[in-house]
Amino acid sequence: MDRKRETWATKAGLILAAAGNAVGLGNLLRFPSKAALYGGGAFMLPYFISLLLLGLPVMLIEWVIGRYAGKRGHGSMTGILGLFFGHASWARAIGSLGVAIPILIVMYYIWIESWTLGFAFLSLFGAMPEPVITSDPHQAMEPFVTFFKTYTAPSFTAGVFLWITLVLNWIILQRGVVKGIEITAKIGMPALIFMGLLLGVISLSTNNWIGIEGLKFIYNLNLSGLKDPMTWIEASGQIFFTLSLGMGAIATYASYVKPKEDVIKAGLWTAGINEFVEVIIGASIAIPAAFAMFGALAIPELAKEGTFRLGFMTMPAILMSLPLGKLLAFVWFILLFIAALTSSLALTQPLVALFEDEMKWSHTRAVTFSMLLVVLGAHLCAYIPNFLDELDFWAGAVFLLLFALIEIIVFIWVFGVENFYRELTLDTSIKLPKSFVYFTGTISPLFIFFIGYFWFSE
Ligand code: PHE
Repeated sequence: MDRKRETWATKAGLILAAAGNAVGLGNLLRFPSKAALYGGGAFMLPYFISLLLLGLPVMLIEWVIGRYAGKRGHGSMTGILGLFFGHASWARAIGSLGVAIPILIVMYYIWIESWTLGFAFLSLFGAMPEPVITSDPHQAMEPFVTFFKTYTAPSFTAGVFLWITLVLNWIILQRGVVKGIEITAKIGMPALIFMGLLLGVISLSTNNWIGIEGLKFIYNLNLSGLKDPMTWIEASGQIFFTLSLGMGAIATYASYVKPKEDVIKAGLWTAGINEFVEVIIGASIAIPAAFAMFGALAIPELAKEGTFRLGFMTMPAILMSLPLGKLLAFVWFILLFIAALTSSLALTQPLVALFEDEMKWSHTRAVTFSMLLVVLGAHLCAYIPNFLDELDFWAGAVFLLLFALIEIIVFIWVFGVENFYRELTLDTSIKLPKSFVYFTGTISPLFIFFIGYFWFSE
């Protein structure tokens, strides 16, 4: 039986859902940690170059292709690649690899998401350690490091919040695209931006605005990162991760637009909101707060110890030592939770779309089966040490770049420049020139090759 596919109910809802897809832990945790680890200003040039040469073009490709496929009843990479190759089984197999990437990511992503919810409640109800007032970062963080390790060991409490998070994701996906995902984004995204701005101002102004030095560290642009292959991999990987590209997560959301939606505008809005929450809000919270509390020397050291250090140990240690600390820590973790929730929905929806569109499963069956896989993966991440870091490097950076390469080749060269250009200029008020298609078809893949080559030859 062919069921009618849903479409986003309102334009604002569509933009907010897509922004919720892109804005996530990547913006508030992954970005500041990577930037700090790769030298702040040295990271930012490869980052902005990757945004322009790869991020924006691939964002537009995924929107255009998503609308094209949605009109024809497909929403997952499996269905989309199938559509382009006469539903050949090899094409569907490669497409399914694309769907596997977001599912691999959500397996660890949702485990982290559940910590944010757990930490939010524990902060508010006074179960977090008491802050130690000292300028020595090690001493200040000690109790929080122990707390984090005990919590994620995993503890019983962590298991409870993991299940709450899993069930919440199931409920929202089960309610569907409009009543579930769109409504969550309409409520969550404005709240997220408000809380982000609030914490940004608090971090920057701490200790008589010393926090601003942290922002300067990130924006002290310099050329030294350009020579380093790892900086390029991580910067371009971050662009893909943060914009949710290279795995069809954006294309899946785009497949639910109305047939005549202006997807170029939607794509630019998605990227614009995401970058605002990353390079303005994300850059203004964690690093500036750490600077204000512990000074410049602490930054490289904090960054070395991994992504979670900053968000789950440094940030609560700092916030809890301020007036209304428990409340501020609560706001920080709820901010992370909303960001993560609207992204974990987006990471799971491609698989739901695969089951519904390609296998014609009922909605409940599609959502439940997808979530069962996520439940299994999240438990593997919780119990196997290092599983999470490995997944993040391979699924969260390397495979994204590889799959983006496949997308560019198929959607521009196999589909054809003329066909792609026709779709690109359909129903939009922003007319891109044809040279944009040639540019994206050549420069973007060359850029990915260059990064790959650089990496292998290291
Ligand atoms: N973009 C999200 C983030 O920054 C992660 C994500 C990737 C979400 C891919 C959906 C799809 O956290």
